[in-house]
Amino acid sequence: MRFFSLEKLINLHDGYRRQYKIDDLELLLIQEQGQRYLVAARCPHRGHPLLDAAMADGVIECPLHGYRFALDSGAVLRRSEEPCHALACHSLVYEGNAVGVMLP
Ligand code: FES
Repeated sequence: MRFFSLEKLINLHDGYRRQYKIDDLELLLIQEQGQRYLVAARCPHRGHPLLDAAMADGVIECPLHGYRFALDSGAVLRRSEEPCHALACHSLVYEGNAVGVMLP
């Protein structure tokens, strides 16, 4: 496993969102209501980008079809009749003054 630094802690604030691409992995770093999350940058339903998705109370809603996911677990909270996988979530790793992720 290798540490990939994503952002300096001093730059994080509520409302922060930034998309990262590491090899073929697209990640979205989010801070909302003091909580930080690192999730897949695309919806697991049909792959719509989540950068501009609405978020509230630890829930992200995909703007394309309105599927909702828990930001901490990725669990599907609302969907239409078409099933979909959970949103991929990654653990944040803090190293010095930066936050990042461990990847193989
Ligand atoms: S692509 Fe996100 S809900 Fe369909």
